[in-house]
Amino acid sequence: MPTIAIVGAGPGMGLAIARTFGSRGFDVALIARTKDRLRTLADRLGREGITAEAFPADVLDRPALAAALDAAAERLGGIDVLEYSPAPHSPVPGLTTAVPTEVTADNLQPQIEYTVYGALAAAHAVLPAMRQAGAGTLLFTTGGGSVRPIPMLGNVNAAAAALRNWVINLHNELAGSGVYAAHVAIGTWIGEGGPEGIPAATPEQIAPLYWNLYERRDQPELVFNG
Ligand SMILES: NC(=O)c1ccc[n+]([C@@H]2O[C@H](COP(=O)([O-])OP(=O)(O)OC[C@H]3O[C@@H](n4cnc5c(N)ncnc54)[C@H](OP(=O)(O)O)[C@@H]3O)[C@@H](O)[C@H]2O)c1
Repeated sequence: MPTIAIVGAGPGMGLAIARTFGSRGFDVALIARTKDRLRTLADRLGREGITAEAFPADVLDRPALAAALDAAAERLGGIDVLEYSPAPHSPVPGLTTAVPTEVTADNLQPQIEYTVYGALAAAHAVLPAMRQAGAGTLLFTTGGGSVRPIPMLGNVNAAAAALRNWVINLHNELAGSGVYAAHVAIGTWIGEGGPEGIPAATPEQIAPLYWNLYERRDQPELVFNG
């Protein structure tokens, strides 16, 4: 069975991506900080006939993140697809938001650690085996502000834009290697209860687009605006 590792696996996109790949024959490695919530997700997927296991780790603890991915590869027989999409639904120490005039090294650095360095650590944990196999997929998710920034997310968007730039260039470098990398920018609110006037979409509407990217393997980026 191929395996997808979802870094930042929660009840929104994480679960929907797990279902999308799991229902198409993938085993699923779920990575996030909270062991109990991961177990609940894994049990839920299990009841749907999907093999899913929890590998708790914090993306801010890069050695722990690499160890979790190594453990997942060992347990599930390798990682064929990496998907990176942590979202701070419960507080992440050090993460704040700032408008552009208030962005400083102090409030940008944690966003870079969370969005960019975590993604780099995850990629480096799985890339050597993928390169050796000449096969594999790396998908990285940010918000639409990585492409079209909005003032209230000055530091968040700057970090996301850095990740986006790196992923698109990774896609270019890996062309012809058999390993495919792509960035997904989600420019909508996900789920219900979003601010008025902001377009929204459900995780179930968005997740199949990840499968399309995985199958087609030609686009460096998907920008989803609903
Ligand atoms: N939600 C939106 O409206 C929205 C809009 C546009 C784009 N996006 C993007 O879409 C992606 C998925 O968002 P989602 O809301 O659907 O997420 P989700 O899959 O529902 O949950 C993401 C999970 O990330 C985990 N996480 C947070 N901090 C972490 C850390 N330091 N280390 C490891 N895991 C961590 C959280 O679990 P723990 O707390 O247990 O760690 C959370 O459950 C993200 O890239 C997000 O930026 C979201």
